[in-house]
Amino acid sequence: MRRGILLIVPALLAGCAGRHNWLASAGAEAQRVEDLFWVLLIGAVLIWCLVIGAAVYAHRRQVDPSLETQARRFILWGGAVFPTVVVGALLVWGLVILRDITADEGDLTVRVDGERWWWRVIYETPEGDVVTANEIRLPVDRTAFFRLTADDVIHSFWVPALGGKMDMIPGRETTLALTPVATGNWGGLCAEYCGGAHALMRFDTIVMEQEAFDAWLAAQAAPAQVAEGDPGLEVFQAEGCGACHTIRGTEAQGPVGPDLTHLASREKLGAGLYDMTPETVARWITDTHAMKPDIDMPPYPDLQGDRLDRLVAFLMSLD
Ligand code: CUA
Repeated sequence: MRRGILLIVPALLAGCAGRHNWLASAGAEAQRVEDLFWVLLIGAVLIWCLVIGAAVYAHRRQVDPSLETQARRFILWGGAVFPTVVVGALLVWGLVILRDITADEGDLTVRVDGERWWWRVIYETPEGDVVTANEIRLPVDRTAFFRLTADDVIHSFWVPALGGKMDMIPGRETTLALTPVATGNWGGLCAEYCGGAHALMRFDTIVMEQEAFDAWLAAQAAPAQVAEGDPGLEVFQAEGCGACHTIRGTEAQGPVGPDLTHLASREKLGAGLYDMTPETVARWITDTHAMKPDIDMPPYPDLQGDRLDRLVAFLMSLD
């Protein structure tokens, strides 16, 4: 039994470490949730000690009928008034936090659609929507207002180090505010079971200085720089990739899969799973379901040799 506990504790603590650490408080909203957590935890421990102490005390004392009134008063105050006040105050505190973290305005607006099993990310700018996928970049010390929805099943959007989690529901829009206070790469994930590749539905949240963010967003807004007659683009079109994927600036306008216009600018491939390298991209194309089971993209095992090399070189040029 004790060995079991010894094994479980490090496993639980491991979940708290690193870039998914919800106690890291790299965001203003995460800090508020964390404050509430510590008050709840410490308060619960104190109240538990008080109740156990009172029970032990009562057990040891002789029954004394003359103290009946005093005992009733103790039960009334300690057992009814005190919990009502404490729970009521916590409820109000929690509701205020909930109101603030679902605030409906921010310094920038990002729409995120949960797909099976990846993230469609759309930045709303005065010049129009900027579409990307599976990687979210945010400026530090600015409040990003997220408008969340889902394509066909319920997902849950969560960047533990930055703030609370929020359901993504088909046909509805939920909102969430995140105000990162530290630069870095914070992990995000789907926090609600949504089917086959749920556990492989992740994303990076890269928090940058404002200037770097502005430059990044401007680059994402631009169409892809593709040379006329690029041999890799010819493979891309011949294999029909453009039926599902969009590469702005080319004829590929497929709305089904992730936008690939600036694919190589992303750090990860497959919704937060693999480093973006020519090797992983090649394997993703030929051995798709070994890389990520259950996804809609079909594998292209017959695409090999020179044609595969040209396609991969083309995709890696989309930065
Ligand atoms: Cu999407 Cu779980």
